[in-house]
Amino acid sequence: MAAKPELYSIDDFEAYAAATLPKMVRDYFDGGALDGITLRANREAYHRYYIKPRVLRDVSNVDTSTRVFPSGHTIPFPCCVAPAAMQRMAHPDGEEATARGAGAYGTVMGLSSFSTTSLEEVKRAADRARAGAGLPGECECVLQMYLFENRATSEDLVRRAEREGYKAVVLTVDAPYFGRRLTEIRNKFRVPPHLKMANFPDSLGVKTGSEHRTNELHAGGSGAASRGDPSLTWEAIKYLKSVTRLPVWLKGIMTVEDALLAVEHGADAIFVSNHGGRQLDHAPPTLQVLSSIAEAVDRRLPVHFDGGIRRGSDIFKALCLGADMVWIGRPALWAIAYDGEHGLQNALKVLEDEFRACMALTGCTSIDQLGPECLMAAETRAKI
Ligand code: FNR
Ligand code: LAC
Repeated sequence: MAAKPELYSIDDFEAYAAATLPKMVRDYFDGGALDGITLRANREAYHRYYIKPRVLRDVSNVDTSTRVFPSGHTIPFPCCVAPAAMQRMAHPDGEEATARGAGAYGTVMGLSSFSTTSLEEVKRAADRARAGAGLPGECECVLQMYLFENRATSEDLVRRAEREGYKAVVLTVDAPYFGRRLTEIRNKFRVPPHLKMANFPDSLGVKTGSEHRTNELHAGGSGAASRGDPSLTWEAIKYLKSVTRLPVWLKGIMTVEDALLAVEHGADAIFVSNHGGRQLDHAPPTLQVLSSIAEAVDRRLPVHFDGGIRRGSDIFKALCLGADMVWIGRPALWAIAYDGEHGLQNALKVLEDEFRACMALTGCTSIDQLGPECLMAAETRAKI
């Protein structure tokens, strides 16, 4: 087989994945809802800000490290791996490759409950990789989930996550229905028959193999156990907290109103996310709503963030605008498509190097120095 090309930016990983993955998989990974307005806006939003260079500020030691959990590990830089479904479509080792990559890099892995590897195998692979890299303790993993109409299915998942040492459950709240993704519909997207939804026994009615279409997981899916419950309300937090002692994070908060409700209802963290533009088309880009949400939350809970992160400078901007932590979705999928766990480590290194350079060239030596004063609106005319 020809040697793999050297890749130097997340765009390179994207191009490699686009050229090598089957069309149906590539379209599933890369697609957004309907016209892709939000999908593109997520990227374009970063162009609305310039970064102010600052000089002569001793940047011989730039510390990019931070923590996700106050008493947990330090991670190399403020970037974790977002939950994304069905990763064995990207690479034969799927979520296990992601777990090994994230574990060895010392960062946090978010696992989708619609994974093609069980949550037990993922956690153990991540822990082994962390130990193999000489890092202390266990890999910090969080489990993303939906609440199913059949609550026993969700409770089983949460208990298993607790038992394995997952550090939080991430309840995705932006998908009572799946967005209409036209490429998936046109391609008649099917999960390849050799893959299965590894967290659910087939008997629970979670469709696997060729009968399964992601759109069926929610609206109109015939497997009652697999369907996310569209009648969910803010009471869901209380319910989840009654079945687990794990922190409950809400993923998919896009307004100040909902962020304040999350605080009021006792969520342990929020995730500013529009699901990578895959749900409500014409929803605003995440970067645009970030600072108002972070201000309203006012440090009462951590603000996680995702959507369109492709550069270290994107991470820098998100932190300046109030995010505590940034997560990457598609870049991790492209990276494992390139070279499994090594691909993910390469991609994280690219982002870390870019982020570090960005901090140095803005005169920042630690994460707590990042704030809105490091940015300027792209429209602002510099006084000459
Ligand atoms: C996702 N995302 C997602 N989110 C979630 O809560 N549960 C899931 O199972 C999935 N699955 C999934 C599959 C694929 C193929 C993609 C691209 C995304 C959303 C994901 O966690 C994250 O919010 C976005 O991917 C962030 O945007 P970027 O980084 O992809 O631009
Ligand atoms: C998706 C789901 C599975 O975005 O969350 O495809």
